[in-house]
Amino acid sequence: MSEVSSLPWAAAPAAGNAMALYARWTPQLDARIEAALQRLRDASIAHGDGLVQSSSLGVEDMVITDLIARTRLPIAIATLDTGRLHPETLALPERIRERYGREVEVFRPVADAVVQFVRREGEDAMYKSIELRKACCSLRKMEPLGRMLKGRSAWITGLRREQSGARGDVSFDEDDGSGRRKISPIADWTWAEVWAYVQKYDVPYNPLHDQFMPSIGCAPCTRAIAVGEDFRAGRWWWEDSTKECGLHVKS
Ligand code: ADX
Ligand code: SF4
Repeated sequence: MSEVSSLPWAAAPAAGNAMALYARWTPQLDARIEAALQRLRDASIAHGDGLVQSSSLGVEDMVITDLIARTRLPIAIATLDTGRLHPETLALPERIRERYGREVEVFRPVADAVVQFVRREGEDAMYKSIELRKACCSLRKMEPLGRMLKGRSAWITGLRREQSGARGDVSFDEDDGSGRRKISPIADWTWAEVWAYVQKYDVPYNPLHDQFMPSIGCAPCTRAIAVGEDFRAGRWWWEDSTKECGLHVKS
């Protein structure tokens, strides 16, 4: 076990209940659901097979998968398995299959590149420097993302404006910096609305959200947040950085 992950406050706290804590129906939610569905329909018509939902399997992405599956939109669903995800996250593709009869395509990093990196820099190199953390993200996320998006003209994300200052101006449909469209159909939803939707439609979700992890990434790089902390404070929690891995940084 690494020195960092053995710190007492890095351990998961007692379970809560995310739905009871956060779900609040709002007067505008019906309209927001309809608008999100319309964005998905429009994107499906515009891009056909060139469209993919890029799902982290976090709650926002599970809501979008539910919207897609309930309305039988022919949109592929894919995820990046970095090799460092929590078991709770890894269980979700099977839950999606059971619930919706949809397959989640899984993209993984190049095994040899990971072995070389770990041999050279160690299993927990991300804690040593921001450069090594970014190198790990590049190897385990960015390269497989490139394969996921190859030949595609658009991807769907679960980005929301409320998630961070850096995401405050996320558009519903924007150029991702490489000529592809990036569609974020629930960009305007609040956290309370995401959970109200989960409650109403009984959407399967990662049980780690019940352990005060609103934003879930790789296990070594995610911790629970404390009351009053920022939504993304548990991501790369030891860093004083913008808390982005590159997936949503325009080049
Ligand atoms: S991250 O850049 O900090 O990792 P975050 O976890 O907030 O991103 O997720 C934002 C969106 O990025 C998700 O809604 C999803 O569309 C995409 N995303 C993030 N991680 C993954 C992943 N492992 N596989 C596929 N898509 C992902
Ligand atoms: Fe590596 Fe952490 Fe980035 Fe995952 S989030 S790819 S473990 S540095």
